Formats: sequence, structure tokens, C-alpha cells
Amino acid sequence: MMTNISDTYPRPVDTPSDERLGCIFSGIQPSGGLHLGNYLGAVRHWVSLQDCARRIFYCLVDCHAITVSQERLREQTLSMAAALLACGIDAERSVLFVQSSNPHHTELGWMLSCVARMGWLSRMTQFKEKAGKDREQASVGLYAYPVLMAADILLYGATHVPVGDDQKQHLELTRDIAQRFNKSYGEDIFSVPEPLIFSSGARVMSLRDGSVKMSKSESSPMGRIDLTDGLDAIASKIRKAKTDSAVLPSKEAGLEGRAEAKNLVGIYAALRGVGIAEVLESVGGMSFAKFKDVLIGVLEEVMVPKGEEMRRLCGDKNYLIEVLRKGRERARALSEERMKKVREAMGFLEVG
Ligand code: AMP
Ligand code: TRP
Repeated sequence: MMTNISDTYPRPVDTPSDERLGCIFSGIQPSGGLHLGNYLGAVRHWVSLQDCARRIFYCLVDCHAITVSQERLREQTLSMAAALLACGIDAERSVLFVQSSNPHHTELGWMLSCVARMGWLSRMTQFKEKAGKDREQASVGLYAYPVLMAADILLYGATHVPVGDDQKQHLELTRDIAQRFNKSYGEDIFSVPEPLIFSSGARVMSLRDGSVKMSKSESSPMGRIDLTDGLDAIASKIRKAKTDSAVLPSKEAGLEGRAEAKNLVGIYAALRGVGIAEVLESVGGMSFAKFKDVLIGVLEEVMVPKGEEMRRLCGDKNYLIEVLRKGRERARALSEERMKKVREAMGFLEVG
């Protein structure tokens, strides 16, 4: 079963009651910086969820990042931590930590790789996409990636996992692994997690091409608004964003077949915390030149201060390290018990 959250920011997300949101786990790869797509599609929801979960973990998944080659992983990990904190992740309410700092992830990952079946993994579409044509040259880690993701989630008994569309299949696999493990080694060792899918602001598209997702892998930074962009960079990217020659429509139907217009209106609506229809009521008939100024205004209000806070935090490396060290301590203390159960259930000899 999938839980859909109908959400509007900055109003708190219309979340299920606390009973339904027991323990939340999500992860983000510290490869490349945070952009507007990540923020609107994932991170702002993570922030709101802090008000409604019993326990919550946000993990910088550096072991996932190294399934493809990385440069400057250490710096990227620190700056992703700074980005999440700047966006509102509160390291008191959430356990914010680095995956590699808790070795239980890779330990459990290995154990689960002996439970997961080759057939299950070979159906993963993300591997096929990422490996491309030359599959022989893909790392074994890239193939096993979803098993490590299952370990991340199962280690803490997560009941709900906020994920984007692209990760739904990996979550299904996690459920299969949990069920197979419980069947083989003892019921109730792992809880079977459910995906949390957010219905609004789900997909932010490139500013240069409304048919592709805004992404860190896009070669030109002009299609993307990065959290590190200051007001000038934001204004220039929005002014150069692709549009069509018509004015803005006053009804949603008028956005049909106008991917770029739909994207800009969608970004504005998500940042303002209102629906598309409501936005169009007030901007219908406006030229894009005028609308872009309005959009720059809301980006200035919502994103620019976050970028400034991120830069400030990046300058305080000791603070960031201390936050992540505390996160690791909390994470490790919480995963230790489950690891003990797993080792015992699998029959590993305990030598004290
Ligand atoms: P990635 O940057 O692909 O590692 O994604 C990290 C998180 O941000 C995932 O939850 C994605 O679903 C989300 N995300 C990435 N790009 C976008 C986008 N263009 N629009 C909405 N969400 C996105
Ligand atoms: N695979 C996820 C992504 O690329 C990141 C991730 C790793 C994750 N472990 C996780 C997400 C556990 C949710 C839960 O976006």
C-alpha cells in the first residue's frame, strides 16, 4: 500500500496521524549540490515531516554515491549536510548522519545481499538506466545498490520512506527482502516499510527544456537553480528560462501542451504554497516577462536566505562535523540492537 500525502507548503503537510507515521527514513546522495528540484520534490517535505513522525532519520548516503566515481566526496558530504540544515532539517528532531559513519549499513547490506535474489535485482530499471549500454563496465556496487538501500531502511525499523517516483521500485524490493528475511529467519525482525509519496511539486523540470527533469547531471547550470545561487544568478536563469510567446492562461487547461509555462507556474505555486488554479486566477493574462519578475521575487524570499545560511554553515566546518558526529552516535545506538538480533537469527557465532 502506498500513502499519499496531499501537501501544500508552507502550510504543514496534511499528514496522517502520528500512529501512522512511526519511523521515517530517507536518504540523499552527497553527489552534486542541492537544487530547486530536490528542495521542492523532497527536502521541503522532509522538513514538514519532522512535525509528525515519532522518529526520523535523514542520511547522507555516501556509500551509494561511490557506486559511480566521485570527486571531492568529503566536501560534497559536508556541503549537503549544510544544505539540509539550511533548508530546515533540525538535527535535534531528526537524526542527521553520514551512512559510512555507521558500519551497520554495509554489514547488513552484505547479509541482505545473501537474501535478495539475482532475478529481483536484474529487474531494477534504475540500474539499467545508470549502467547504460556497457553493462559489463558497471560496478558491482551499482548493481547491488538497492540492497544497501534496503539495509538503510530496515536497520532502523522504518515504517515510512519518503521517496520520489524513481525510487518506488527500490522500495518494493526492500519490502520483498524484509518479507523473505522474516520468513527465513524469524518473523518480526524487520518491519515492512511503506513509501510516502508527495502529491504536490513532485516534478520540477529544467528551465531550458520543459520535457526533462531539473537535475544535477544536466550539463548546463542554466537549466537548474542551485541552492548556492545568489539573487543575480537566480534572476538571470529565470529571465533566460524558455517560454512560449502566448500570455499566461487563467485556467489550468490553458497550460496543456505548454511544458515550460506549466513548469514555471508549478514552481511559483509550490514556493507560495498554493494550487496552480489559484495562481492562474491572479496571473492569467500576464506576459512572461512580468510573471518572471514575480517568480524571481518569491525565489528571493524563499530560496535566497537558505542559500546564504548554507554558505554560512559551510564556513563552520567544526559545527557541521559535530552535528554529524552526534547524528552518528544516535544512529549507531539505535541500530545496534537490531544488528544483534540479525546476527543471532542468521547464526553468526558471538565471540564476546
Ligand atoms: P537526486 O538528486 O536525483 O539524487 O534526488 C534526490 C531527491 O530529490 C529524490 O527524492 C528525488 O525524487 C528528488 N528530485 C530530484 N530531482 C527532482 C526534480 N527535478 N523534481 C522533483 N524532485 C526531484
Ligand atoms: N537511492 C536514493 C536516491 O538515489 C537514496 C537513498 C539511499 C535512499 N538509501 C535510501 C532513499 C533509503 C530513501 C531511503 O535518491
